[in-house]
Amino acid sequence: MIKFLDLHKLNSRFENDFLTVFKSFLDSSNYILGEEVEAFEKEFAQFCGVQYCIGVSNGLDAIMLIFEAYKILGYLREGDEVIVPANTYIATILAISNSGLKPVLVEPLYSTFNINPQNIEQKINSKTRAILGVHLYGQLYDFDSLEKICKKYNLLLIEDAAQAHGASRKDGRKAGNVSDAGAFSFYPTKNLGALGDGGAVTTNNKDLAELVVKLRNYGRTSAYINKEKGFNCRLDEIQAAFLRIKLKELNSDNSKRRDIAKFYFNRVKSENILLPFVSNIEEHVFHLFVVRCSKRNELKKYLLSKGVETAIHYPIPVHKQEAYADLKDCEFPITEQIHDEVLSLPMNPLLSDKDLEIIIKALVEFD
Ligand SMILES: Cc1ncc(COP(=O)(O)O)c(C=O)c1O
Repeated sequence: MIKFLDLHKLNSRFENDFLTVFKSFLDSSNYILGEEVEAFEKEFAQFCGVQYCIGVSNGLDAIMLIFEAYKILGYLREGDEVIVPANTYIATILAISNSGLKPVLVEPLYSTFNINPQNIEQKINSKTRAILGVHLYGQLYDFDSLEKICKKYNLLLIEDAAQAHGASRKDGRKAGNVSDAGAFSFYPTKNLGALGDGGAVTTNNKDLAELVVKLRNYGRTSAYINKEKGFNCRLDEIQAAFLRIKLKELNSDNSKRRDIAKFYFNRVKSENILLPFVSNIEEHVFHLFVVRCSKRNELKKYLLSKGVETAIHYPIPVHKQEAYADLKDCEFPITEQIHDEVLSLPMNPLLSDKDLEIIIKALVEFD
């Protein structure tokens, strides 16, 4: 069986290094916000090309901390509207509503899966304060268009980069550095994944960075001095140590993902299967390789019968979830079609040529 993702195999590559850092972590007695978090923040900021990186508890909290910081800075108020793609993982939209803001959903482009800039302006009104873009599946959103709209209407641009560690643009700017503030997840399945939860905020805004540093740690400025009503949203020291080891391999892993994507593009020739639209393969980090098929469920079953495990990202759109019953009457036909058709093929840096041949054979045989 070719697993959709074999996390044990992915992480056991680093076992010796993990054990070494665990031993010094154990011996250090410094388990929260120590040298490893600080070092990881520096290294990840450098990787993204930003001035500041703040390690936090997870990707959802990373987005929420950005919103909380912008509230304190006076850019956002409870009840303000935030434009967001309708086609995203629910966490993106939860971050908005959990922060007392109103998510305003916008249809994506069927081709790229990402927010369609042409649908944004009609949703802007006097309460709109920000756009939360998402680099879905590892491909950056249309940065030029989103930035232009944000400038025109004086909106904040925030990026959900949970699926896009290392994705870049033609000018060399990377995910985490194509907005006012970026949010990353280090959930174990991500391109850069911890051995537990983790996340980060990236920004070039010093005031925002300083606030997020406080907010993630009860709002404290120093021991027992609290300037803001903060949270406990810290990145674990041991996770930072693991992430530092894995960060060294991220470029190489992303490049292997691109090679696998090239293989899929060259070899999947089937009338029933629509390959993803990619504007530039070298800029994409293929967190997921998502094809579309009108007979998606049959294809999934067929591939499984041939020993190929796949996944669906995502089966139910946010506006159809019970949690968002208030959005149930909204119509997002493109989002719904995407949710009905998408299928994620195995995609990770350890897939072998033999695995890929088996996957291709099964795909080509399906009709
Ligand atoms: C697009 C997107 N946003 C946000 C998140 C939330 O990240 P986390 O699971 O670390 O809270 C995820 C991760 O699952 C995601 O895929």
